[in-house]
Amino acid sequence: MALVSMNEFLPKAKANKYAVGQFNMNNLEFAQAIVDAAMELNSPFIYGVSEGALKYMGIEFTVAIAEAAAKKSGLPIALHLDHGSSFEVAMKCIRAGFSSVMFDGSHYSFEENIRLTKEVVKAARAMGVSVEGELGTIGGVEDDISVDEEHANLAKPEEAIRFYEETGVDCLAIAVGTAHGMYAGEPNIHFDIIEAVSKAIPVPVVLHGGSGVPDEMIRKSIAAGVGKINVNTENQVACTDAIREVLNKDAKVYDPRKYLTPARKAMVEVVKSKIQLFGSSNQA
Ligand code: 13P
Repeated sequence: MALVSMNEFLPKAKANKYAVGQFNMNNLEFAQAIVDAAMELNSPFIYGVSEGALKYMGIEFTVAIAEAAAKKSGLPIALHLDHGSSFEVAMKCIRAGFSSVMFDGSHYSFEENIRLTKEVVKAARAMGVSVEGELGTIGGVEDDISVDEEHANLAKPEEAIRFYEETGVDCLAIAVGTAHGMYAGEPNIHFDIIEAVSKAIPVPVVLHGGSGVPDEMIRKSIAAGVGKINVNTENQVACTDAIREVLNKDAKVYDPRKYLTPARKAMVEVVKSKIQLFGSSNQA
């Protein structure tokens, strides 16, 4: 099967109240672990690729790996640019074979974000490629944000609705209190914002910063209208912990397969648990 647009599975996820996972691909072992887990559970999924990961892997290898996974598995898989920063990088990815792109204009003014996102949607739609937009600022793990600042960054439902109506994105990431990376405590997720936006627009809300969010909060987010959830850090931690364990046990190891095999196994377990939690098993 060829790579597909997120529209092959997101409308069904929203209608049936489950979420499809975006698992970030950082190297070959991540890609293999993610597709192996999804094959075991017969689930659609999204390979998220950040600009940093793209630089690390190279665009040709990234597309070739994702295409191989789609061919091998027969699953509906979208290859999605994560937090694309410009029209140019989105077009470069589409030309190279990406089936989906995110344009993150959240650091621009509201009007400019709409204008730039619309340009990406127009071009991407003509090529059958899905688009994710972003509104509000999603914090990072190093941002020790106080409650006031956090509120200042949250998406406003009326703006999110207008953003959807004007841009026609296929899914919408809104800042609702999650952050990229692991949390020091628990995230303060604003389920009311998710619900208000999700009720008013036909496409799913996207939850970024899915790592470390307690299971109950994930279930509540999905019930409120989240249809796509991004996970990266938990796989990175599982991968590195497994490698560290092998190397700590035996300092003489030099064959990368000796530590990458357990690393890949550990990521399979993370991805399987997320797919089960998100409810996308047997939805391929
Ligand atoms: P985590 O790294 O917190 O899982 O977030 C991933 C993400 O949102 C990628 O866009």
